[in-house]
Amino acid sequence: MASTSTSNLSPKLLLLSLLLGSFVVASVGNLYQDFDLTWGDGRAKILNNGQLLTLSLDKASGSGFQSKNEYLFGKIDMQLKLVPGNSAGTVTAYYLSSQGPTHDEIDFEFLGNLSGDPYILHTNVFSQGKGNREQQFYLWFDPTADFHTYSILWNPQRIIFSVDGTPIREFKNSESIGVPFPKNQPMRIYSSLWNADDWATRGGLVKTDWTQAPFTASYRNFNANACVWSSRSSSCSSTSPSSTSTNGGAKILDNGQLLTLSLDKTSGSGFQSKNEYMFGKIDMQLKLVPGNSAGTVTAYYLSSQGPTHDEIDFEFLGNLSGDPYILHTNVFSQGKGNREQQFYLWFDPTANFHSYSILWNPQRIIFSVDGTPIREFKNSESIGVPYPKNQPMRIYSSLWNADDWATRGGLVKTDWTQAPFTASYRNFNADACIWSSGASSCSSTTPSSTSTSGQWYSQELDSTSQERMKWVQKNYMIYNYCTDTKRVPQGLPPECTAATMS
Ligand SMILES: *[C@@H]1O[C@H](CO)[C@@H](O)[C@H](O)[C@H]1NC(C)=O
Ligand SMILES: *[C@@H]1O[C@H](CO)[C@@H](O)[C@H](O)[C@H]1NC(C)=O
Repeated sequence: MASTSTSNLSPKLLLLSLLLGSFVVASVGNLYQDFDLTWGDGRAKILNNGQLLTLSLDKASGSGFQSKNEYLFGKIDMQLKLVPGNSAGTVTAYYLSSQGPTHDEIDFEFLGNLSGDPYILHTNVFSQGKGNREQQFYLWFDPTADFHTYSILWNPQRIIFSVDGTPIREFKNSESIGVPFPKNQPMRIYSSLWNADDWATRGGLVKTDWTQAPFTASYRNFNANACVWSSRSSSCSSTSPSSTSTNGGAKILDNGQLLTLSLDKTSGSGFQSKNEYMFGKIDMQLKLVPGNSAGTVTAYYLSSQGPTHDEIDFEFLGNLSGDPYILHTNVFSQGKGNREQQFYLWFDPTANFHSYSILWNPQRIIFSVDGTPIREFKNSESIGVPYPKNQPMRIYSSLWNADDWATRGGLVKTDWTQAPFTASYRNFNADACIWSSGASSCSSTTPSSTSTSGQWYSQELDSTSQERMKWVQKNYMIYNYCTDTKRVPQGLPPECTAATMS
């Protein structure tokens, strides 16, 4: 099955993380991207293209999942629909927790019950390994009939548990009177469904009825507007996660709808995708540095790691006001590039957002601009040309100063009186196979035909698209390695002379 981030409501940019700068990272949308199924040998499932997660419990085992990210403060929402019918003896836990004996923990636990009898919603807060702060509630609705939203707001001052937006419990920071408060240990989100009929329902008197198994609980609409903890630091600036950005050149704005990179004399900025991908169709809208952008380069590319990496590049070489940007493209396979093609654009890329897309499947790589293909790099392994197909890649982008070469070969320098230079990104969409723990989210080599992602996996250029690509190449191409006889005195690369001309 292909996993995609296609939920149209999702602020897609939140799937990217900024390398420089300071920001709140939120994550909305695709459960594949946010969670690992950690327990239950197939009893935990992610369905509907990442929109739904289910846990189930039978006599042999329960099941569970955990978030890929660790968080240090955040507002975390999830919709749950609990085990219906006779759920007595079962417990569904949904909680945040850090590791180790002095861990912190913020708990929702749902204690099942006989059909028609009320669930108990149990809450607790642990700080530095100490809990014993239970509060229990009945709910004012049947939590098994429909999805309801359970939220944890965790900031340095307080923890608020909410149900469908109604706060049910507040745990304040009382450090001033000697009560430890969870604020130094990053936590993951966990959930599990298991058998606890020794205590869960009426103190253990009512046992699990295994004739009703499997028991299933469902999860959807996960949203984490949170500070992601990674490599011992928080994605949020010091202690004020609510300021979207205060320093650094990379920002995520408008609730995750917009990302900007900027460059000043001290530094450029960049971001990378949280996910690694192995094949996909990846779209992003960019609006480039306006005005006098000479000397600046905005790169937007896919790349794997290491000396024999693969890479698929868009690079935008800035220019003086009114002079055309150069769109530079390249393909590296197994560490070898030198496959440049350069274009002028048929519009001003700084006036508005335009879509830049990379289609990467086992047969071909297609670069497109506003849906018009500008370059195709075909798989020519049959004539000995390595093709990127074994190394998962992340998406990267950066804006930096390259005035030693970028504009008219380095003759025009960056005018720092115009700084900061800013490029903007929006409408990120990755219809792609996500690579995780050595495996692809796409089944072997055939993504699910039920998902739209099946199309791109075998997509090729139809005759109309080929005509459009020819139009671009005839009118706007300014450099093509395939025709640069000066540079390759030993002869043109095989993929250029073959019928598979790229
Ligand atoms: C189950 O229902 C009984 C009877 O209404 C109630 O006393 C109890 O609190 C409910 N919940 C659990 C988890 O026992
Ligand atoms: C900048 O403009 C000049 C003059 O139009 C052009 O020759 C050049 O290709 C443009 N782009 C870059 C990156 O130098």
